[in-house]
Amino acid sequence: MLRNSMLRRMFCCSTFSVLTFFAFAAGSAWAQGAHPPAKTERGGGAGDIARGKYIVEAVAVCGQCHTPRDSNGNFDRSRWLQGAPVPYMPAKPNADWPINAPRIGGAPPASDADMIKLLTTGIWTDGNRLRLPMPGFRMDRSDAEAVVAYLRSVTPNQ
Ligand code: HEC
Repeated sequence: MLRNSMLRRMFCCSTFSVLTFFAFAAGSAWAQGAHPPAKTERGGGAGDIARGKYIVEAVAVCGQCHTPRDSNGNFDRSRWLQGAPVPYMPAKPNADWPINAPRIGGAPPASDADMIKLLTTGIWTDGNRLRLPMPGFRMDRSDAEAVVAYLRSVTPNQ
């Protein structure tokens, strides 16, 4: 009996602190909505955009497939990450090979949560992996958030 009531009290306390936590989290989410903090203060801020740009341009090279090229084969910077014909052919014939790498810069093609899921797990909104040659990325969460912040910031002509 004694143990039971102690357990119950512990349970009550932890329920209480979980509730307090949610109330606090909801409160701060509300406060953020009312007064968006300066960009550098939270994930997706200015620092993250610079890191995301570095990952997109220099590490994961998303533009290799998602940016169209001019007649000399150079990136068309006026259409940076705006979608392009896939520049690679499969080594073995594959009827399911995608023709286009869609637009990913500017308004994202999916919610931030779905974009982060894709970049951290390789799984897209339909619960499946995207087709090759789209790489199955396994970024850590902060890298994925930085990439999404950068993609959102992209406007053609960049
Ligand atoms: C080697 C080529 C290649 C690279 C590099 C690449 N992608 Fe892709 N990506 C594709 C192709 C091809 C598709 C279409 C896949 C399909 O239709 O199943 C695609 C699809 C996507 C989609 C789904 C878009 C939609 O509307 O369906 C997203 C999001 C995406 N890529 C983001 C990225 C990001 C972010 C990077 C870099 C971190 C990247 N990709 C790098 C080729 C590439």
